[in-house]
Amino acid sequence: MTALLQVRGLHCAYGADEIIHGVDIEVSPGEIVTILGPNGCGKTTLVKSILGFVRATRGEIYFRDRELRQLRPTERAALGIGYVPQLLNTFKPLTIAENLEIGGYRLRRSERNAAMARMLALFPLLAERRSQLAGTLSGGERQVLAMARALIMSPCLLFLDEPSAGLSPLRAHEVFQHIRDIAATGTAIVIVEQDVQRALAISNRAYVLVTGQVVMQGPAASIATDERIGRAYLGAKMRGPVSKPPPLTPIAPA
Ligand SMILES: Nc1ncnc2c1ncn2[C@@H]1O[C@H](COP(=O)(O)OP(=O)(O)OP(=O)(O)O)[C@@H](O)[C@H]1O
Ligand SMILES: [Mg+2]
Repeated sequence: MTALLQVRGLHCAYGADEIIHGVDIEVSPGEIVTILGPNGCGKTTLVKSILGFVRATRGEIYFRDRELRQLRPTERAALGIGYVPQLLNTFKPLTIAENLEIGGYRLRRSERNAAMARMLALFPLLAERRSQLAGTLSGGERQVLAMARALIMSPCLLFLDEPSAGLSPLRAHEVFQHIRDIAATGTAIVIVEQDVQRALAISNRAYVLVTGQVVMQGPAASIATDERIGRAYLGAKMRGPVSKPPPLTPIAPA
């Protein structure tokens, strides 16, 4: 098996209310995969079930050929799966440095220091503000901190739930550029995103989820130009010709 993550026939429910009805998803090493779909279709639920926060009622989740369903979230994370949740993804009363330390609490001190140094080198804006409280960062800066916190453990698969939510177009652009940089280091990334065009522009493949089922999948470029996607599922953001995003350039520290 070459896939890093393989989800087969997954069903998830909150009590008697089934939300995910038999989903198959695959992620290969180093890939960027986007999961699209209307509000409430189950994107976050699907991600949380892969991470172990929502119970899967049926189906299989293989990560590096290991079945995950019996494992706790912390055990899944320890195997190399990182997660930046849609909400509450940093500790606002703590500094940038303290947030990063917490991200690496399972590491030995020397490893943690090395991992922190790696993150500060990868994200210069965090290095400059390492003593600043997370609660005083802008939305975009906080999103970068959340990604760095997840990356401290060197996951080989990282889930990002709505990384550009609430950000200005410029900040969103910077966050997507960071996501591309992270993928360039070899980490596979799964993005759940409302900003469909930008997400598809940096993705290899995409899945379209509607009421808990995959209704379309394929290369991101094909999904981006598929008329049916825009009309049926994704609303105004996909109508009209898909515009080319601005070229990605190195980000100057803020
Ligand atoms: N803890 C919960 N208990 C019961 N129902 C829930 C719970 N969390 C989510 N749901 C329901 O599950 C469905 C899917 O929610 P989910 O958050 O997975 O959607 P989503 O696709 O991520 O939406 P959005 O784009 O708005 O983030 C919704 O109908 C939601 O109300
Ligand atoms: Mg969601």
